[in-house]
Amino acid sequence: MTPAAVAAPDPSPPCIPMTTSLTTEVAFQRCISPACGSTYGVEEVHTSCPACGNLLDVAYDWDRARPPGSFEHFETKWMRRSDPLAFSGVWRFRELLPFAPPEKLVTIGEGQTLLSVSDPVGGFVGLRRGRLHLQYEGLNPSGSFKDNGMAAAFSHAHMIGARRAACASTGNTSASLAVYCAVTRLMRAIIFIGSGKISYGKLSQALDYGALTIQIAGDFDDAMARVKEVSGRLGIYLVNSVNPFRLEGQKTIMFRVLESLAWQPPDWIVVPGGNLGNSSAFGKAFIELKALGLIDRVPRLAIINAAGADTLYELYTRRGLRWEAGRADLSPACHYYDELDRLARRADTIASAIEINRPVNLNKCLRALEACDGVVREVSEQEILDAKAQVGAGGLGCEPASAASVAGAKRLVAEGVIGRDERVVCILTGHQLKDPNATVAYHTTDQDLFDEVLGSRGVSRASFANRAISVGNRIDEIVQAIDLYG
Ligand code: F0G
Repeated sequence: MTPAAVAAPDPSPPCIPMTTSLTTEVAFQRCISPACGSTYGVEEVHTSCPACGNLLDVAYDWDRARPPGSFEHFETKWMRRSDPLAFSGVWRFRELLPFAPPEKLVTIGEGQTLLSVSDPVGGFVGLRRGRLHLQYEGLNPSGSFKDNGMAAAFSHAHMIGARRAACASTGNTSASLAVYCAVTRLMRAIIFIGSGKISYGKLSQALDYGALTIQIAGDFDDAMARVKEVSGRLGIYLVNSVNPFRLEGQKTIMFRVLESLAWQPPDWIVVPGGNLGNSSAFGKAFIELKALGLIDRVPRLAIINAAGADTLYELYTRRGLRWEAGRADLSPACHYYDELDRLARRADTIASAIEINRPVNLNKCLRALEACDGVVREVSEQEILDAKAQVGAGGLGCEPASAASVAGAKRLVAEGVIGRDERVVCILTGHQLKDPNATVAYHTTDQDLFDEVLGSRGVSRASFANRAISVGNRIDEIVQAIDLYG
């Protein structure tokens, strides 16, 4: 269900860059490499620094932007919920991402998400009562956290007059782009997906919402490489998380977490790692909040890879790659990618949303790990599915990739890295109904189905399965089953 509330249609003709606006005076784009530090206007469209090729940030002149001096300012917006921009869980915080004028901001009601304490899941993770919080981003209009970033990237696209927007996707970015296009009719969605690599829940969204859907004979990493080339060549606006405006929207997930915790930072944020956009955005959010004096300490960040797509774990934890205040020697990453090519090793995990071997935001993520004293872990398919079953039993269903955060938290508690008394927030990035195949296969009594979907991936048991009971079409058998198990 999508509450449709869009800022006024753009009266300006396509492809006319905005040159004068209040926001261009306070916001600009800047290369993340301190050695380069080149800057560009917000009316320009780049997915990397034209001078050195590194990633770009959206940066602000905070002295001019004058953001609120306290968080209470944002709370007052709750009283104005008939105003779409005050209702939006992204634009409610727009003073902390002030890159576009209000009349260009697009919202479809994203960010009405929930932070809840879960003692059942907390017990599974090994934490004491009241310590585990789940941030349920599955409540977004398209069913995943992507809508936070899409609201921002889409607004930027609208601001510069784009008429076509593209992405490569494991399914959620594409569903999100497709729904923003369908609701607003401002742009045509063109999505690139790896062949056979997308769950039906997500594919069905893109098709239903009318996106031009291009299935590439390859995986996500291939689709990502192609969409960059094609969008560059055809001048199509790219909404993948190499787009720095996307990550501005994703900062607001952390603003809402803080808001739900009465503005007290938790001890840990635990997030699945795929293309590493979320983790990068979270790091940026905390760096900025600290610099603005809105928080006095930053939470620690734990990023969790699936073992079958573990580039960050390999580079950060095994090979010691670090940001080093922006002086990182990235040659270990290049060597690793060469190794992957030589061995023809492809990402492979049931958590298809994070089945990515070449995370495009690697550098920004390293910066976030440094700022947030971060750790990286990998978890097995078995751990992911058991954690997912526990999240479901706790009442907030999620897709496999999301459960990596809970599985990772459990590991870190077992290792003693996370203390049992620490306050932990796991991000549930996507809704359970995104990928029902994995769920049904886990709970099934059909051994062939289990073997085909999960056994083939090394999952040997379903310790938390809730199996359907088969009975004949007879009242006595049904009553007997309920008496026995009910
Ligand atoms: N969880 C879910 C449900 C996702 O869809 C994704 C990414 C991630 C976690 C990883 O987040 O990339 O910020 O590290 N999905 C992208 C997509 C790649 O195309 O939908 P990240």
